[in-house]
Amino acid sequence: MSPQPQAAVGAPLSRVDGRLKVTGKALYAAEFDVDGAVHAVVVDASIGRGRITSIDTRDAEQHPGVLRVISHRNAPKLPYRDNSGSNNPPGRRLRVFQDDRVLFHGQPVAVVVATTLEAAQHGASLVEVGYEAEQPSTDLHEGKPGEPATYARGDADAGLRDAAVRLDLTYQLARNHHNPMEPHATIARWDGDKLTVWDKTQWVMGTHDEIAAVFDLPADAVRVINPFVGGGFGSGLRCWPHTIVAALAARETKRPVKLVLSRRQMYFGTGFRPSYEYRLRLGSDRRGRLSAAIHEIDAETSSYETFTEGVMAPGQMLYSMPHVSQAYRQVPLDVNTPIWMRGPGFASASFVIESAMDELAHRLGLDPIELRRRNEPSEDEAKNLPFSTRRLRECYTVGAREFGWDRRDPRPRSTRDGNWLIGLGMAAGVYDPGRFPAQARARLDADGTAVVEAATTDMGPGTYTSQTQVAADALGLTMRTVTFRLGDSRYPQTGPHGGSSTMASVGSAVVDACDQVRKQAIELAVADRESPLYGVDADDVVVRGGRLHVPGNPARGETYRSLLARHDRSHLEARGTYAGPPTPERDSYHAYNATFAEVAVDATLGLVRVRRMLGVYDAGRIISPKLAESQAFGGIVGGIGTALLEHTVTDHHDGRIVNANLADYLVPVNADVPEVRAIYLDGEDNAGNALGVKGLGEVVQVGVAAAIGNAVFNATGRRVRELPITAEALL
Ligand code: MOS
Repeated sequence: MSPQPQAAVGAPLSRVDGRLKVTGKALYAAEFDVDGAVHAVVVDASIGRGRITSIDTRDAEQHPGVLRVISHRNAPKLPYRDNSGSNNPPGRRLRVFQDDRVLFHGQPVAVVVATTLEAAQHGASLVEVGYEAEQPSTDLHEGKPGEPATYARGDADAGLRDAAVRLDLTYQLARNHHNPMEPHATIARWDGDKLTVWDKTQWVMGTHDEIAAVFDLPADAVRVINPFVGGGFGSGLRCWPHTIVAALAARETKRPVKLVLSRRQMYFGTGFRPSYEYRLRLGSDRRGRLSAAIHEIDAETSSYETFTEGVMAPGQMLYSMPHVSQAYRQVPLDVNTPIWMRGPGFASASFVIESAMDELAHRLGLDPIELRRRNEPSEDEAKNLPFSTRRLRECYTVGAREFGWDRRDPRPRSTRDGNWLIGLGMAAGVYDPGRFPAQARARLDADGTAVVEAATTDMGPGTYTSQTQVAADALGLTMRTVTFRLGDSRYPQTGPHGGSSTMASVGSAVVDACDQVRKQAIELAVADRESPLYGVDADDVVVRGGRLHVPGNPARGETYRSLLARHDRSHLEARGTYAGPPTPERDSYHAYNATFAEVAVDATLGLVRVRRMLGVYDAGRIISPKLAESQAFGGIVGGIGTALLEHTVTDHHDGRIVNANLADYLVPVNADVPEVRAIYLDGEDNAGNALGVKGLGEVVQVGVAAAIGNAVFNATGRRVRELPITAEALL
């Protein structure tokens, strides 16, 4: 069989939607011009836990423009049908305005609907809420942990006892917030019993299903639309309470309602990367061969839902060792429920494991890369499965060469540039890319153009572009003649746009649909006496630039247009599917990286400046090199934030987040981001999907914080086992 020529895949193309974005024509959730829309502003709880005793809405209701104030006192009971199996963690989800309980500071307690945004905002400020406040519990170290999730192989206690070298290290990881540029927002409109929602979400189907469950609506009564997402990083991976508030307010006022969270409200109205306390005990022999690890992991969750993420996996499979035990406990606190944030779980675990590996290397007098090489497993020791591909050794080799690792002096505090202490550090990264069942539809029209649709979203990685690339090559069309549509729950269903899953999952369904359409056309041609391809073996025909032909004999062929015209066909159409990974799994399928950092630390002030970063990635086949590079830069920038800046601070007296704004919650700005370089190893991974991809959006953030922390140690001799690493900690 002649393989389809690959012209678009692998080409460093610019975004197909770039012009729309830079000219302001790309419409984000709150920007849709819905006729007659009014505005809603949420009143949020000003206590950290307790009960609402009174709500005085008289002044608000009399304010000009205010249409309605809704709270638990006048809200209808909502069905809140079960929707487990979605991205709602186990527990009892927050039910808006259903009772007088306050579960966390900032919980929605009322909503003011008004004809203008200003009237709604002022109206919200006029609502007087009385509370019976209780002392909230928001400190991870003072909460009562739940039952642990555990993992064990071998005998970790004995392994550790017998180890020649032992480390016992405890790490504190700060809570992080996603802080996408686009605020979370919803416009809800009822047309009789049908509800249309424009919503900032990374998963239109997930939001669709949750709304249908909360209001007990049939699936076809709800439509969720979201063609553009201005950054997500995980914050859009589930349907949050404000979306329900908007739909409820629209139903109560019989008007379309627009609700945009303020930046402050996004700190408790959507999720966050949970804070962790992570104790790691590690044992090895004198040559650095790991023998045992004991992981004790505590993470915050809410009082009403138990959020978990993949924090245990790296400790089970990143390095070879016979004895491992893990206990992962959720600590319920009076906070809103966390959610995945870029590199979820793996980024947190990797900071701990990769910092500890650096400590071990230093203790043994071994190069950190050499220590990792000595512990490279030959199979996944947790799953007892071969690796589909694992090219971490190559990541080390390429990274060391390209970064100039041989210039690193292993003695801490030995390299200076004036008053700056210079250090180099590295870390390994791993991520388990998601693979979710997906569908797509492809339609080839008589004019030779095609439309491909799937209900995925594009939070920024460039889904429009990369899916157009794979569709164009599978159809044998140019990029210009293919339109990819997403962001509508009426399109064929997909899983969430997250967890590095989209290309493997949606991309596979897209290729399947497009392959079928191309094959339909080829079958038509080879069976058609009037076609120049009549009688040719269908397997020998390829399509390029919309022209069907046999490779090596381009003269003999015809275009889709002439073929469809002769057959009087308006279009050819097919639905493609991706069924998900094989069960049981046959391979251990992960993306990997080696990340390198050079930092300069002010010897007097403790100020850390990142000077250079390099990531080398084993992420399978790269569909879109230019977009992949942007993903790596974004991941590294996010990792710089986690390492040095980002820290959501809670006042434990009343549960209030004290830095719920972009002035006090620090994220990296251009001045914090130095020379950044990304290298993707060339090659495919054919275990999980026909495209040969592994997914790269998450792994790019994993390991970054550890690489920076290890560079800080090399520069200063100071080991900071706390994120973020601040100047104070280095003084
Ligand atoms: Mo990613 S944390 O799944 O947006």
